[in-house]
Amino acid sequence: MDLQELINMRRSVRAYKDQAVPEPVLETLLEAFRLAPSARNAQPYKLVVVHDAQRRQALARAANNQMFIAQAPVVLAAVSLEPERVMSCGVPACPVDVAIALDHLSLAATAAGLGTCWIGAFAQDPVKQLLGVPAQYRVEILMPLGYPADSASAKKRKSLQELVCAEQFN
Ligand SMILES: Cc1cc2nc3c(=O)[nH]c(=O)nc-3n(C[C@H](O)[C@H](O)[C@H](O)COP(=O)(O)O)c2cc1C
Repeated sequence: MDLQELINMRRSVRAYKDQAVPEPVLETLLEAFRLAPSARNAQPYKLVVVHDAQRRQALARAANNQMFIAQAPVVLAAVSLEPERVMSCGVPACPVDVAIALDHLSLAATAAGLGTCWIGAFAQDPVKQLLGVPAQYRVEILMPLGYPADSASAKKRKSLQELVCAEQFN
């Protein structure tokens, strides 16, 4: 499968089969995460890999009761280790770094026949507590991972004309 096909195929999966992710497959995805670029090549993040069913349930409850999250056999939580760091351009570095690494992972997951969903709707402190994340760090995103039990629908996106401009902002 080429990259364009993968990009077209990746979608949010909100229903998962009761089927474990084989360890070698998970390792491939984690390697895609590991190889992602980051500002200063600092990789100021940690990925918590959650298999435990009770912890997945609790994470789903802390994520606005989006219970499909717990259906996935694995839930990933990306934690920023330098949440206050801002690049010289004025933009926070960690959310950018984490997004790139998880995008690598989610595309690798698609290539392996797996599904993911970015989860930004969650309560920070309860999730930190559930995962034992120290107070000074920040959970940037949750991501369930598993075999899709739903089917794809057509992608809705803005047109290129709305998203792209030539030479100058307009
Ligand atoms: C940063 C971020 C946070 C998101 N948070 C949630 C969420 O909490 N729950 C959810 O069901 N989908 C969430 N999504 C998924 C988006 O709704 C989805 O990516 C978008 O509608 C495009 O659909 P697609 O992923 O199927 O292409 C999130 C996506 C991103 C990138």
